[in-house]
Amino acid sequence: MAEAVLIDIFGLKLNSQINCMLLKTLNAVHYLHATNAKFLCIMCGHNLKCENDCEHDSELEMINSLPALQMGFEVISNSSMAAVLYTVKQKLDEKNLDSIKIMTTLQRKALMKVFIDQLFTDVYHFEFEDLPLDLGESHIKESIELNSVTNQELEEIQNDIKTYLRSLPGLKGEPIILTSSLIPDTFIHGFTTRTGGISYIPTLSSFNLFSSTKRKDPKAVVQENLCRLAQAAGFNPEKFHHIKTDHANGVWIMGKKEPNLYDGITTNQSGVAIAALGADCMPLIFADPTKKACGVAHSGWRGTLLGVAMATVNALVAEYGCHLEDILVVMGPSVGPCCFTLPRDSAKAFHNLDPRCVRLFDSPNPYVDIRKATRILLERGGILPQNIQGDSKSDQNQNLDLCTSCHPDMFFSHVRDGINFGSQMGFILIRE
Ligand SMILES: *[C@@H]1O[C@H](CO)[C@@H](O)[C@H](O)[C@H]1NC(C)=O
Ligand SMILES: *[C@@H]1O[C@H](CO)[C@@H](O)[C@H](O)[C@H]1NC(C)=O
Ligand SMILES: [Zn+2]
Repeated sequence: MAEAVLIDIFGLKLNSQINCMLLKTLNAVHYLHATNAKFLCIMCGHNLKCENDCEHDSELEMINSLPALQMGFEVISNSSMAAVLYTVKQKLDEKNLDSIKIMTTLQRKALMKVFIDQLFTDVYHFEFEDLPLDLGESHIKESIELNSVTNQELEEIQNDIKTYLRSLPGLKGEPIILTSSLIPDTFIHGFTTRTGGISYIPTLSSFNLFSSTKRKDPKAVVQENLCRLAQAAGFNPEKFHHIKTDHANGVWIMGKKEPNLYDGITTNQSGVAIAALGADCMPLIFADPTKKACGVAHSGWRGTLLGVAMATVNALVAEYGCHLEDILVVMGPSVGPCCFTLPRDSAKAFHNLDPRCVRLFDSPNPYVDIRKATRILLERGGILPQNIQGDSKSDQNQNLDLCTSCHPDMFFSHVRDGINFGSQMGFILIRE
C-alpha cells in the first residue's frame, strides 16, 4: 500500500466536467488511502488554464474551492513542475516515505517518469495509476508516443529542473574548498567540504557530490552541486571525470579505454578536471609540474593495502615519463587513526606494513592509520618525503588531515553517518 498518493493535474485544462471528475477522484482516493497513506497531495501549476465554462480564474483557485483541504490533501503549486516535484520530495523525505503512488493522465505519464528519474533515486518506489480525466479532445495519441517523450520535451524537462535547482540557496554557508600549498598554480586543485551545496537530507547536506541508487540525493542535485564547485574552483563541469569506486588499485589513463571500475585516474590534458570521491576513504591528488601531468586516487583501507597510490604514480611515470622526484602527492581528509578500526585480521596487514600504522594491535579491533600507511608506501616507492603533504608530519594547511568522522560540520563520513552518507572529493586539473 502506498504511503503517499500524489495527484498530478499540472497544466491540465480545467472545465466544469473535469472539475466534477476530479472531485470524484479525490473522494475515491480519500476513501481508499486516508487511513494508510501519510501524505496525500495535489500537484498543480500556476497558469490560467481554465476554460470558458469554468467559473474559476486558475487551477489553484479551482483546487482551493474543492473540499480537498478538508479531506487532508496538501496542494502544491508552482509554475515550474520541477519546483512542485522537488517540494513534494522534500515533504516525502521529511516524513521518511518512499512508497509512492502517482495518479496522472495518460498524456503526462511519460513526462512524469522523466521527472522522477532525474529527481529521485531507486530508494523510492513509484507506482502509477491513470487519472481518468483525459476526456474527449484530440489527446488520443498512438500508444507508442504515449510511452516516450520527444527530445524537445526531454530538453525542456532538464532545463526546468536545472533552472529550478540553480535558484535554490546554498545551505550551511558558502562552499569551502581546502587547498594544499604544495601544488603550484599550473594546476587548479582542492578538497571539498560539506558547506554551500543544495542537498538538504541531514546526512547528505549540503555539498554531496555523489549520487547512487542506494542514497536519496538524485543525479540532478549532485550535478547542481558539481556546477557550484566548478564555478567556485574555475573549471568546466562538462569536462569532468571521477573515479568509479572499486576499492582496488585499477587506474584509468585518460585517453585509453575506460575500464568499468577504477580507483585512480591520470591525465595530461589541460582543462579536464579529474576527481576522487571519499567519505572516510582518502582522496589523493598527484601533480607533476615538470611534465604537466596529474592524477587522483581513492584510497580506502583495501585500496591502501593494494597500493592504489603507487599504482597511480606508476601510471604517471609510464605514460608521461614523469620522474619520481618531481611527483607531488597530497592526501585529502579521511577517517583518522582516532576513529578507524578494523578487525584484527585485517589490521594485521597494516601491522606487517609497519607497526606504527596500528594502535592497540592486541585488541579485537585495533585502530588503523591509512594516512601513515599511504605515506610509508609512497616513500618506499620513491616519492620524496617532502613531496607528500596531508599528515601531521608535513602539513602546513592543517585542515587536510582532519578526521572526517570527528568533524561532522566539515566532512561527510560513512563510518559515522551510515548508509545514506554524502561524499566529498579531491580534484585537480591542469590550468588552461
Ligand atoms: C515557485 O518557484 C519559484 C522559482 O521557480 C520560487 O521562487 C517560488 O518560491 C516557488 N513557489 C513555491 C510555492 O514553491
Ligand atoms: C600526453 O601524453 C601522451 C602520452 O600518453 C603524449 O603522446 C602527448 O603528447 C601528451 N600531451 C601533452 C599535451 O603533453
Ligand atoms: Zn576521528
